[in-house]
Amino acid sequence: MEKIKRREFLNNICPNVALALLGVSLLEACSKEDDPIDQVDGENGYTVNGNSIEIDLSHPFFNILNTQGWMNFTAQKTLLLKIGSTYSAYSNLCPHQGTRDAWSYNSSENIFVCGRHNNSYPTDCISEGTNGGPLQCFNVNKTGNILTVIKS
Ligand code: FES
Repeated sequence: MEKIKRREFLNNICPNVALALLGVSLLEACSKEDDPIDQVDGENGYTVNGNSIEIDLSHPFFNILNTQGWMNFTAQKTLLLKIGSTYSAYSNLCPHQGTRDAWSYNSSENIFVCGRHNNSYPTDCISEGTNGGPLQCFNVNKTGNILTVIKS
């Protein structure tokens, strides 16, 4: 009977089996950070599935929508706006030069203002801002306490 040398054996077996022999689980061995799997972040009140974000509006993280009426949901690069019981969502990419983190909302004029260069953008998804095109709108759907934002 022919003896198989250790190095030859390791070169010929599946890498996952080799990792399993070393104590690394197959699931760990098969997953990569870049895998296009769903991102689940239910602890923060939302889950992401592809281009869809499901937001649990009853989660404390989103309470600011009830008090302030809007929020820059930076983790998902999305501006959320609540007027009465109606929700809207927009890309937080400023149409001027792409700043994402300098937003405020002017409720009397119903415009978002980017503080980077103080340009303003209507929320109607059509009208151009004072410098650059309109804010990019996302579709939203609300069922109970779940707000689904579909990024396009
Ligand atoms: S980047 Fe927003 S106003 Fe210039």
